[in-house]
Amino acid sequence: MPGYVCMNFTPFFLSLLSHIYCTGDLLKQVQLAKLFSDDKHFVDMPLQESPGAWLWLSPLLSMFPSLSSSPQILAKISDQKLQAWASDLNAKWKSLGRKIKDDVRTRPMFYSQIYVPHPVIVPGGRFIEYYYWDSYWVIEGLLLSEMAATAKGMIQNLLYLVERYGHIPNGGRVYYLCRSQPPFLTLMMDAYLAHANDTEFLRENIHLLEVEYEFWQRNRSVSITVGDRNHTLNYYNVQIGEPRPESYSKDWELASDLNEDARQELWAELKSAAESGWDFSSRWFLSWPPPLPATLKDTKASAVVPVDLNAFLCKTEHLLASFYRILGKEPFQAALERRLEAVQAVFWNEAAGVWLDFNLLKKQPNPAFYPSNLAPLWTDCFSDQAAAERAVRYLEGSTVLSYKNGLPTSLFRTGEQWDLPNAWPPLQHMVIAGLAKSSSSRAKEIAFDLAQNWVRTNFALYKKYQAMFEKYNVDGDGKPGTGGEYQVQEGFGWTNGVVLQLLDLYGDRLTSGSPSTLFRAWIVAACLFLLDLKW
Ligand SMILES: *[C@@H]1O[C@H](CO)[C@@H](O)[C@H](O)[C@H]1NC(C)=O
Ligand SMILES: *[C@@H]1O[C@H](CO)[C@@H](O)[C@H](O)[C@H]1NC(C)=O
Ligand SMILES: *[C@@H]1O[C@H](CO)[C@@H](O)[C@H](O)[C@H]1NC(C)=O
Repeated sequence: MPGYVCMNFTPFFLSLLSHIYCTGDLLKQVQLAKLFSDDKHFVDMPLQESPGAWLWLSPLLSMFPSLSSSPQILAKISDQKLQAWASDLNAKWKSLGRKIKDDVRTRPMFYSQIYVPHPVIVPGGRFIEYYYWDSYWVIEGLLLSEMAATAKGMIQNLLYLVERYGHIPNGGRVYYLCRSQPPFLTLMMDAYLAHANDTEFLRENIHLLEVEYEFWQRNRSVSITVGDRNHTLNYYNVQIGEPRPESYSKDWELASDLNEDARQELWAELKSAAESGWDFSSRWFLSWPPPLPATLKDTKASAVVPVDLNAFLCKTEHLLASFYRILGKEPFQAALERRLEAVQAVFWNEAAGVWLDFNLLKKQPNPAFYPSNLAPLWTDCFSDQAAAERAVRYLEGSTVLSYKNGLPTSLFRTGEQWDLPNAWPPLQHMVIAGLAKSSSSRAKEIAFDLAQNWVRTNFALYKKYQAMFEKYNVDGDGKPGTGGEYQVQEGFGWTNGVVLQLLDLYGDRLTSGSPSTLFRAWIVAACLFLLDLKW
């Protein structure tokens, strides 16, 4: 299983880059010698003139996107503390802006950075390149901050990658080329169009949206038989049996007691899980219930057909159909109808009252709670309107609503970062936005409560640390997230984007919940009570 078949380089680049970053002996020697505390350090370093001579030379320039000092969203926020915070978050885009140096375009062989032409907003912390699915929440946040040109540039970068590679790599590094991440390109285009009505941009690029969609259909689809019908759905599947370059020594050690076939298989499964964005999680473990403490050796991501991935592609089909209609061309309707049927047949679980991931090896659904089970609500990937009501009962029937600092990622404490006790911004947003658009009043109420909890946790920790984190820990009073392969990172692109979206949705009602506000509310209540007694 060679590690570079999906790279589209000239032979010289191919041998040099793959030698160093993907499969090379040099990579192995350096990573196993543990010269750096984080394996990602080494693979992010540029080369100087010849492989072997290393130098700290950044491929990136800081880029200071022009900010709007008072975007309209601020006026929508009635709580003054939240308003001031939103203003800080708006200004934070400046510190996360990067432009890739032209040298990366003219001499790509010296860098692991993949060149893209427009400035990007990076997540922050150790993540100093663009990431595919993160960019969706960043773009939504940028649009609310009235930075449509920066948002458009990020979409243009991703279109540029589709044109070159036929798919969008997980992140902006050559060692991410062979795997993608949850597909949000068409949803990003939709977000931008809703803001800018730039039909010309759509017309020029719709063929690339389709190329990206076709990558998922061609390289990542699987047929599942239910009754006498075959359904085609999508899954994450990277069949490259090499350690992840950015976590080389960890992957190597994990597989140290396995034979050659077994370790290649394990490494391919770790990459498949990385492609899902949920690296790592009990969601991809084969044993049930997940062994505690968990071992990543149990990861078998390519056996799982995930609800959320199919919900995102369902939305993509829906949007492509409507984009083609705007452009007066043949609609994309048949694919959407097939998807709706398949999602209903394979994922909908009548007993649980929700959609569940399907395991191909066990030929069974995974009964566990994951926020991703509710993704079809957000992307309108269902035809039976009663589904939203059922999904509300599903949420109320589990214990997840009792966590006051955010919706946990699962109910298993595996020590992996996509499990209890961590709560992730994109998952909060998907569930909240899905419930908020339902016609059920109970669903709307839950959506607001979840948004209130999340915003308060983020705000309280912002006050405490002057920082926004990539994930949060739902235990106790709320903390930055924990677990997994690296320390929690600060910045943070999607966190800021989600907070801005929630403030946009509920700015007139959300409160910061800081002690002084509560205290004031208490004083007012006490005064009213005394007045009432008096009169
Ligand atoms: C997609 O499939 C094609 C043809 O099978 C293959 O050449 C290419 O490497 C695959 N791309 C990825 C990123 O898996
Ligand atoms: C969007 O642009 C198209 C033409 O490019 C125009 O027909 C349409 O009215 C515009 N819609 C809005 C909401 O501005
Ligand atoms: C479904 O797929 C199986 C295996 O690929 C095949 O044998 C069968 O004929 C298909 N059934 C239908 C109804 O297409």
